[in-house]
Amino acid sequence: MKTVSSITLVLVAAALLFHAGPAAAQKSAECLACHADASMQDAAGHSISVDESKFHSSIHGSLECANCHTSIKSYPHPDKVTPVKCDTCHADEAAGLAGSVHSASADHPCTSCHGDAHAIFPKTDARSAVYPLNVPHTCGNCHSNEGMAQKHGLASVYPSYIDSIHGFALSKEGLLVAANCQSCHGSHKILSKRNPQSATYKTNVPQTCGTCHAGITTNYANGVHGKAVAAGKLDAPVCSDCHTAHAILQPTESAFRTQSTPICGSCHKEKFSTYRDTFHSQLGALGGYVETARCWDCHGAHDVLPASDPRSPIAPANLVKTCGRCHVGANESFVQYQPHANAHNRKLNPALYFIRLFMNLLLGSVLTFFMIHTILWLIRSRYDQVKRKSAEGEKNA
Ligand code: HEC
Ligand code: HEC
Ligand code: HEC
Ligand code: HEC
Ligand code: HEC
Ligand code: HEC
Ligand code: HEC
Ligand code: HEC
Ligand code: HEC
Ligand code: HEC
Ligand code: HEC
Repeated sequence: MKTVSSITLVLVAAALLFHAGPAAAQKSAECLACHADASMQDAAGHSISVDESKFHSSIHGSLECANCHTSIKSYPHPDKVTPVKCDTCHADEAAGLAGSVHSASADHPCTSCHGDAHAIFPKTDARSAVYPLNVPHTCGNCHSNEGMAQKHGLASVYPSYIDSIHGFALSKEGLLVAANCQSCHGSHKILSKRNPQSATYKTNVPQTCGTCHAGITTNYANGVHGKAVAAGKLDAPVCSDCHTAHAILQPTESAFRTQSTPICGSCHKEKFSTYRDTFHSQLGALGGYVETARCWDCHGAHDVLPASDPRSPIAPANLVKTCGRCHVGANESFVQYQPHANAHNRKLNPALYFIRLFMNLLLGSVLTFFMIHTILWLIRSRYDQVKRKSAEGEKNA
């Protein structure tokens, strides 16, 4: 400890002890008489100074030190004092945290998210560690750490989040209403995505995104996917299956538009493979980015409906309009073209099936003919060779 603080310590102790016996600890000023010294350190060399002006401007600035440091009742106080329990005044937050993924209180004290214990500000104050624009960085202190992620079998999410549409809107545009970690996970009672109570549990995701994207969530709920998920079918997609949870792209970006596989094809494998055989897909696969028809240009993205539903963009009566968005002048005969023609399926596409069968037969018989022809030709030439040799032998003999 520095000399200055030793002198202060002695003076203050003397002043406090002046009247009679150990003095009752009450006023912040008394504590600050020693602890406001910026260079004050404990025996182990850790700073034990408190920034007086910061403390007074904080949300707890009107509290007395001893309201939190309840174990200090008199001076001189013991070297080791019991840790502060925020729970005594904030029981709800403490209970939430205790039941959460961050329940190990030694690893996750309140200050791990709220920052400096003596400079806590309300969430609406830009100086607060939990102010919306600061939340990603606060959570990212741990969730950008590869080592920690690996140890707990988690993805290191901060880097993908910060480059996403939400992260960009928040960090680059300062948009307070963009989704931060807290908007989707909550703050204290954060639960694992495997817990059915969690805001990020599969069937709860539409509602979670829907707190902001209300219109799209309504469309989604009216579509075949939303209805299936609401009925408990976990193989149908929710928002994060198509958009991801943290690496959300702007859907007009080419990086998003070229990803038909993860977005629809991972589940609709057969439709994806037939789409891949068509002109639309081949055009998109020519390299670079080409504006062609992706799954959702014909099916819609959120209110996806089967062809049998008259409201569906792929219902026979709506095809002229659907294709006509891109093909000016599309008519009934144009839309006879089958975007998923499957030449392997006789029942669905008999004409195509037989054409394919005929072409295959033709190819097969041509190949067989020439194979037999070649074999016979080889035998014949070998026969000639042998005959020539024996004729020459007879001549020489
Ligand atoms: C007479 C000076 C003096 C006063 C007054 C004083 N402290 Fe301290 N305090 C110290 C010293 C010296 C230490 C370092 C003890 C050590 O070396 O570990 C300390 C340490 C502490 C610690 C850290 C203990 C630990 O476990 O590391 C806390 C918390 C603390 N004081 C709070 C208070 C509060 C609250 C008050 C007012 C109610 C107060 N102090 C009043 C001198 C003082
Ligand atoms: C809102 C509650 C709260 C108030 C009010 C408060 N403290 Fe603390 N203080 C804490 C917490 C939390 C810690 C971290 C260590 C712990 O958990 O005990 C801490 C730690 C300390 C330490 C140890 C060094 C450090 O920074 O870790 C000192 C010294 C200290 N406080 C002094 C004071 C003084 C002096 C005041 C009044 C000016 C004060 N505290 C007011 C909550 C509080
Ligand atoms: C995992 C990070 C994290 C931990 C740990 C944490 N908090 Fe919070 N806390 C937050 C976030 C984020 C907010 C902002 C919530 C919001 O914007 O609605 C917040 C807000 C608060 C608020 C303001 C509540 C309101 O709605 O106005 C209080 C009080 C609070 N926390 C107390 C605590 C206490 C006490 C602890 C320890 C028991 C704690 N927090 C631990 C992240 C955390
Ligand atoms: C002695 C009681 C007490 C203790 C202990 C205490 N607080 Fe507070 N806290 C308060 C009071 C009073 C307020 C102000 C409430 C208000 O103005 O609405 C407050 C406000 C807050 C707020 C801001 C709430 C908001 O409106 O956004 C946060 C965050 C907070 N406390 C966190 C903590 C943390 C973290 C700890 C532990 C380090 C802690 N508190 C310990 C009494 C306490
Ligand atoms: C002090 C480091 C730390 C901070 C700060 C922190 N976390 Fe965590 N978080 C962890 C650790 C460690 C785990 C793993 C817990 C376990 O599995 O025991 C975890 C687990 C999680 C999980 C659960 C993953 C799963 O499915 O099992 C989520 C979600 C999460 N944290 C979100 C957040 C959010 C949101 C914030 C900010 C409001 C935050 N964390 C702040 C360290 C931290
Ligand atoms: C737009 C909503 C949203 C935002 C913003 C968001 N998350 Fe998530 N998070 C989710 C969803 C949904 C899941 C579960 C599904 C998944 O992992 O794909 C999840 C999963 C997680 C997991 C578990 C990952 C695993 O491997 O099990 C962690 C940890 C996590 N988030 C932390 C964070 C942190 C830290 C932030 C801020 C930097 C954040 N999240 C921002 C929605 C979000
Ligand atoms: C807290 C509110 C909030 C929540 C919750 C939220 N978002 Fe967003 N989201 C926004 C805002 C605001 C924007 C606009 C950002 C911009 O344009 O810069 C946005 C943009 C988007 C975009 C890009 C839209 C476009 O036209 O460019 C997609 C996609 C998106 N969010 C998907 C999701 C998904 C999926 C979830 C849930 C996992 C979710 N959001 C949760 C607020 C939210
Ligand atoms: C089946 C996959 C899928 C699901 C599930 C899904 N989306 Fe989308 N979303 C898309 C596609 C594809 C687009 C691009 C549409 C376009 O460009 O015409 C998109 C576009 C968006 C946009 C940008 C605005 C727009 O309409 O172009 C937002 C915001 C959005 N989705 C949010 C959500 C939310 C919130 C949910 C959950 C309620 C959700 N999405 C569910 C595939 C999906
Ligand atoms: C996570 C898997 C998954 C993803 C991703 C997915 N779907 Fe689906 N889809 C399903 C399931 C499961 C059903 C059947 C729902 C039911 O039970 O009614 C379905 C039904 C459909 C239907 C109705 C016809 C039918 O076969 O029942 C269409 C059309 C459709 N999806 C198109 C799409 C499009 C377009 C995309 C991408 C924008 C997409 N799907 C993404 C799983 C998925
Ligand atoms: C050019 C427009 C177009 C594109 C692009 C397209 N489809 Fe289709 N899709 C249709 C039409 C029209 C039908 C109905 C006729 C049929 O089944 O072939 C259909 C049928 C379907 C069905 C069955 C619907 C039912 O009610 O039985 C699914 C599932 C499907 N498509 C998924 C996809 C997926 C996944 C992609 C992208 C890989 C995709 N589609 C791309 C136009 C398209
Ligand atoms: C998002 C825009 C878009 C939609 C929707 C769309 N297409 Fe296309 N389609 C294209 C583009 C781009 C090409 C290649 C350029 C061209 O030939 O016009 C193409 C080419 C074609 C071709 C081969 C070339 C030609 O013009 O003859 C056919 C056939 C075709 N589309 C049929 C359809 C049918 C049927 C539908 C509706 C079920 C449809 N398309 C919906 C963008 C689209």
